[in-house]
Amino acid sequence: MRMILVGPPGAGKGTQAAKLVETFRIPHISSGDMLRAAVREGTALGKQADGFMKAGHLVPDDVVIGMVVERIGKPDAAAGFMLDGFPRTEPQAAALDRAMAAAGYQLDAVVLIEVAYGLIVDRVTGRRSDPETGEIFHVTFNPPPAAVAGRVVQRKDDTLEAVTQRLEKYHSETVPIIPFYEAKGLLRRVDGVGTPAEVTARITTALRSAR
Ligand code: AP5
Repeated sequence: MRMILVGPPGAGKGTQAAKLVETFRIPHISSGDMLRAAVREGTALGKQADGFMKAGHLVPDDVVIGMVVERIGKPDAAAGFMLDGFPRTEPQAAALDRAMAAAGYQLDAVVLIEVAYGLIVDRVTGRRSDPETGEIFHVTFNPPPAAVAGRVVQRKDDTLEAVTQRLEKYHSETVPIIPFYEAKGLLRRVDGVGTPAEVTARITTALRSAR
């Protein structure tokens, strides 16, 4: 299975990917997680990306494309992968297409998780994550257990100001790639409102029909 998870910030892509990789046994390749790791490690790429991310802007295409194309070429991705947060611009979608054609890979599905914009600010500003395991929580919808609550952290781009920017970028840069995948017959729209388990069940059903 080679698939992409698309959706606005806070749609639940990371939450769902964590569940789905267990079912489909493929690596979860999140461009956001890769960039955050590079920022933490202080690499040249991380230094370049940090300012864009904090402000809620997209990291330039040339930086992100090289990073993800290299990642999907690794041996653990040879039998399949779940991309999360990439592609999110037209040049990224075109670059992925070229890289997959060169590798002889075919995409099986693109899952669009749809959540009304009114719900997104609450989801994003209430998000917390465990720096030790990467597990995602929410102060109200999925509170961390007592043993973890003392160490959870908030992302620097989960402020109201940055999420407003991220939503604008989603609209102007990412929404335009959706018709590209719809025209290829790969797009599966999934309602992202409900419990995380309900959303996982919807995605799993959509993916089974894609195979
Ligand atoms: P990235 O990390 O990709 O962020 P994003 O796309 O904005 O998505 P999020 O991680 O905010 O949300 P999510 O959909 O994963 O939701 P989650 O499951 O956590 O990118 C961050 C930044 O990196 C970008 O702004 C950009 O600067 C840069 N970047 C990354 N990729 C790039 C690229 N390709 N090109 C250029 N720049 C790039 O859930 C959110 C919250 O909601 C959590 O608290 C969760 O507990 C809760 N929740 C989840 N599901 C539910 C549910 N069903 N009901 C109630 N609450 C729920």
